[in-house]
Amino acid sequence: MEEKLKQLRDEAVAAFRKAQNDEQLEQARVEYLGRHGRMREAMKSIASLPEEQRPIVGSLANRALHEMEQVYQQCQQELAQRAAAQEPGERIDVTLPGRAPRVGRRHPLLATLDEMVEIFLGLGFTVAEGPEIENYYYSFEALNYPEFHPAMDEQMTFYISDDVLLRSQTSPVQIRVMEQQQPPVRIVSPGRCFRRDTVDATHCHTFYQLEGLLVDEGVTFADLKGTLEVFAREMFGPSCHMRFRPDFFPFTEPSAEVALTCIICGGVGCRACGYTGWMEIGGSGMVDPNVLARVGYDTEKYTGFAFGVGVERLAMLRHGIDDIRLFYSGDLEQF
Ligand code: DAH
Repeated sequence: MEEKLKQLRDEAVAAFRKAQNDEQLEQARVEYLGRHGRMREAMKSIASLPEEQRPIVGSLANRALHEMEQVYQQCQQELAQRAAAQEPGERIDVTLPGRAPRVGRRHPLLATLDEMVEIFLGLGFTVAEGPEIENYYYSFEALNYPEFHPAMDEQMTFYISDDVLLRSQTSPVQIRVMEQQQPPVRIVSPGRCFRRDTVDATHCHTFYQLEGLLVDEGVTFADLKGTLEVFAREMFGPSCHMRFRPDFFPFTEPSAEVALTCIICGGVGCRACGYTGWMEIGGSGMVDPNVLARVGYDTEKYTGFAFGVGVERLAMLRHGIDDIRLFYSGDLEQF
């Protein structure tokens, strides 16, 4: 019996060591250590031995079993290590530091837009929204764009049909709002716009604007300037100033380009502002009486101002983002 146990142990150890993969090792385990395996059979036969031999043979059998199990475990580990070494991508390096889960947060563009809207809500404006897919009438005709006017060049956009297009500015919302209500009107309209611009660090085919419109009795250019100055100071602090320069938009007369003291250099001049000390943020003006008349407003009684501000520009300044494309790229590693 003693011999038989030793032989069994040697056979099992040899079988375990010979196994080239998990399957072969498992087969050997079942054969020698399994519930109906050879070792179990051998141990059963101990019961039929004379009583005085049973404890001796029993402890020999236990030792043999223990040795077999140890070799089995060793072989199992070796096979696992070998498999891991063959697949370097799968190797688990337990010394690597843990990965912190990503915490979601609001997109910097929307956070900026929300803050802008919040300031205008505080000034008594309400929010109006319009469709991103617009027709030609609201996009241009009602805004006083003559069909072949050079001002159309800036508004090159994506047409769905001759009459339907992706809006190139939020200004059409002015018309939609005025068609629905009589003055006083005091709205801001945040939203996405599209243009057929070549994409680079400062231009994108998709961008956000915040439009503003105020129509009432006795509204003057001073109200426009005052409103935008309050907005700029709220947004960028009391040292922020505004500059208005003559510009042209078909739906405002007079029209003005709006610039802010460069937030990066404080107006001294730096690379970001082209050493001018100013940053252009949008357009503005007094609503052209033609536009008011078209929606049926009494142009003798009412005047108004309007403005449109680019949101990306402001968000880039606030967060020190130097490439507009990052706003729309899904690759978080770039941030
Ligand atoms: N919609 C103009 C643009 O995208 C910006 C603008 C200019 C809006 C003057 C206005 C405005 O409301 O009065 O270029």
